[in-house]
Amino acid sequence: MELPSSPDAIDPHNADVKDLKRRRPPESFDILDVTDVLWTLTNRCNLRCIYCHAIPHARTLEPEPTGTQIDHVLQQLRLLPALQSLIVSGGEALISPHVERVLQQAEAIAPVCYVITNGTVLGQRQKQLLRAYHPRTMVSVDSIDETENTTTRGPGVLQKSLDSIKWLLDSGIYTIVIIVLTRSNCDGIQNTIESLYETGVRNILVQQLHCTTAAMGDSFIELSPLHGAIRNLFTLIDGWRRERPDLVIDDSEICFFLRRERDRLLKCDPRQDYLPQRLFMCGAGFNFLALKANGDVIPCNAFLDCVAGNVHQQDIRAILCDSPQFRGLRNLRTHRVDEIPGCRDCPDNPVCDGGCRADVYNLTGEIGNPHPHCPRLARRPDVCGFDERAMDLRDAGATNL
Ligand SMILES: C[S@@+](CC[C@H](N)C(=O)[O-])C[C@H]1O[C@@H](n2cnc3c(N)ncnc32)[C@H](O)[C@@H]1O
Ligand code: SF4
Ligand code: SF4
Repeated sequence: MELPSSPDAIDPHNADVKDLKRRRPPESFDILDVTDVLWTLTNRCNLRCIYCHAIPHARTLEPEPTGTQIDHVLQQLRLLPALQSLIVSGGEALISPHVERVLQQAEAIAPVCYVITNGTVLGQRQKQLLRAYHPRTMVSVDSIDETENTTTRGPGVLQKSLDSIKWLLDSGIYTIVIIVLTRSNCDGIQNTIESLYETGVRNILVQQLHCTTAAMGDSFIELSPLHGAIRNLFTLIDGWRRERPDLVIDDSEICFFLRRERDRLLKCDPRQDYLPQRLFMCGAGFNFLALKANGDVIPCNAFLDCVAGNVHQQDIRAILCDSPQFRGLRNLRTHRVDEIPGCRDCPDNPVCDGGCRADVYNLTGEIGNPHPHCPRLARRPDVCGFDERAMDLRDAGATNL
């Protein structure tokens, strides 16, 4: 993986210039920084969603983890003393033969355990487990409209997922619905969120589509929501926050380029100079890591090829502290967003970290490239190596930038 070559040209100790997000130097990483782990318990799945890497069961080629390997991973996770949440995912974790063993031990690993499920496989065994261990359960539903949901998650899935959500709520299990935002479900999102609210859902995570595995290259661009639709969603979310304080919508994953200007006006004093934001301000590789089913340690599921080591061969603490891949990624924070072509003169650069670097790397092959979702950059084909595709994301909603 190539890192941006130019050094950090700005003197961070210049007292006249403010840094909105001061950070410890990346080399000071400590194992106590790690608070969240996302574990792909199995690669196998009964569904085949349009944007996902999971392998339909019938075609599984990679061996699945054995019971001994699962026990070893559990032991390794116990070595992360500050872990706050263990997120058990897949593939479809609830079809893994090891899910019970993991749920049993989760409490000893982290105070909070989440299970992410497609909600289509809740048989007696799964219900028993969820009742017994009460993990916070996240169910993926992209739309309340059958056609829209079928486009991304396949036919005959929606009703099963909704039935599971109802069962979870009736059983008093903390339930969160995950909606992956794409061009297919954006127009109906108001309906989806309001219908979910009517059924009793109070926690919704609107998830950014990442450029990874099945959603690579042109399909990432074709599936990504248009700027106008994201702008409408932000307006809707602002309204729900005012009118429905009991509804929690986590939109922190969504590309915030369309909110940068507002954030700058809120956070910056126009009489003060500010440093451009550091790159890569998400927690991946710092507070957060992901474990693949084979034991590989990666920063997150969007950086699938950035393997720092394997917990079946090395101690997880040594992987996290010594891996050159993670050091390189953490070092991105010594660079600032003005090093991205086109960002130097952007008035919003004090509040913008340039967007997800994994998506940029996966889409363009260069981690320091501009992000295709930034409307300011999409209007600057001179700085975008992928101008045609980034331009496709523009629409009327972005013309006032
Ligand atoms: C990989 S799935 C595994 C758990 C379970 N099978 C499910 O569908 O909820 C975990 C979450 O990642 C989401 N996901 C899959 N591919 C994605 C992508 N390319 N970008 C963003 N989210 C994605 C899914 O919709 C789901 O909410
Ligand atoms: S998103 Fe979940 S349900 Fe869909 S294919 Fe991937 S792992 Fe399976
Ligand atoms: S031009 Fe650069 S700094 Fe400005 S909003 Fe876009 S990505 Fe952020």
